[in-house]
Amino acid sequence: RETPAPMPDDNPGELEECCFAGIREDGRATLMGYCSDGGYGALTRAVREGSPAGVIEVVEASGLAGRGGAGFPTGRKWRAVAEAPGGPKTIVCNADEGEPGCFKDRVLMDYDPHAVIEGMALAAFATGATRGFIYLRYEYPHTERILEDAILDARDAGLLGQRILGSDFSFELYVRRGAGAYICGEETSLLNSLEGKHPFPRNKPPYPVTHGFEDLPTVVNNVETLASVPPILAKGADWYRGLGLGDHAGTKIISLSGDVQRPGNYEVPIGLPLDTLLNDWAGGPLEGRTFQAVTMAGLSGGFLGKFDDVTLDEPCLRARGSFLGAGGIMVFDDRRDMVDLARQAMAFFAHESCGKCFPCRIGTQRLTERLAGEAGPADADEWKREVADIGTTMAAVSACGLGIAAPLITQSLLRDFPDAVDANLEARKS
Ligand code: NAI
Ligand code: SF4
Repeated sequence: RETPAPMPDDNPGELEECCFAGIREDGRATLMGYCSDGGYGALTRAVREGSPAGVIEVVEASGLAGRGGAGFPTGRKWRAVAEAPGGPKTIVCNADEGEPGCFKDRVLMDYDPHAVIEGMALAAFATGATRGFIYLRYEYPHTERILEDAILDARDAGLLGQRILGSDFSFELYVRRGAGAYICGEETSLLNSLEGKHPFPRNKPPYPVTHGFEDLPTVVNNVETLASVPPILAKGADWYRGLGLGDHAGTKIISLSGDVQRPGNYEVPIGLPLDTLLNDWAGGPLEGRTFQAVTMAGLSGGFLGKFDDVTLDEPCLRARGSFLGAGGIMVFDDRRDMVDLARQAMAFFAHESCGKCFPCRIGTQRLTERLAGEAGPADADEWKREVADIGTTMAAVSACGLGIAAPLITQSLLRDFPDAVDANLEARKS
């Protein structure tokens, strides 16, 4: 079995303090290994000496925000579920890591499964939830076995199930596998899938915090978000906040792949210059090559062609027309054909569009055809106007994030690679 590299051991930029420092320790994936480094200490303290409100206060104060891509404040989400009427309440771990170029959740689950489980149990304690599901990407069958074993061990140790650690707090946890659809990473599609329904996204609001699994209050958090919670509760909100650079709180795992010397998962402080990650930590471009482009948020944040001054935080990236999202960065050097890369990216979105709304269903197809040279006006200016117009319509009226984000591919191509577009259109004439 091929396993994506864990955080590189000899990473020259290795942080002295980081959230997932323990992931490289031998035996970390076992209950004994996890507990030997203080694992389940945060849950034990919360259940024996703490309170649900106290847990939420620390998570709020830490500044932890959704690490699946959208960055919604985690403490605020938990508070909304805690205060929502009705139940039983549910914790869902979104482990449907389907974004191309993202492989950090898999590594967290494979190497640190108990951190995810402890994070879910803390979320349940904080919100009053009694049941939880890890919705696991279909393509991660080996991870399923790791999670199932870890859940069994935690249950045997009294850390899951009924009357956890002898208290009144009970929380049952199950693993459910997806079936290979990208759209099931969208939280409401995921909930429909979990309920055995067709996984069309639901209209939001209402949000899952009040109308989630079985229309009841539900926390949906990404793997990395949940795995960040035990160290935050163990070391404190100020410690976590202080891990970020400048005003930014905490860290983010970046899955770095493509034309770079040392691809892999890197835990970076939020606000780190991209240049530091690419050149100092990851060793720069391949021999004799230069960087041409990077993607952001896997594919969802489109391409950046000029990125010397980019820092890895949402304010900087949003100002550049992109976003950090789930933290996948794919690197392309000067050999790559940017128009063809854009075509491949758009073909992926067209294939994965669920088809519920027409701007996305038809727009992704039309853009793929134009990028492939199969349709669209011959005149370059007309072609660009048409491609931009389709993208603007999709972004404005698509029903979920897929259709809103997909046109960033063409928008960023037109913005940062006008010469490549012109050359491609010119070549079609001959
Ligand atoms: P969103 O902004 O609609 O919601 C983010 C979260 O905050 C959701 O859990 C939502 O329920 C909650 N929320 C938002 N407003 C709320 C309110 N007023 N009250 C209570 N809860 C509220 O974003 P969405 O569509 O859930 O996620 C989009 C992101 O997903 C993108 O940024 C993209 O990067 C990421 N993504 C990640 C993938 C992966 O493999 N990890 C794959 C594809 C996209
Ligand atoms: Fe489905 Fe695309 Fe519409 Fe989302 S935007 S609901 S993926 S058709």
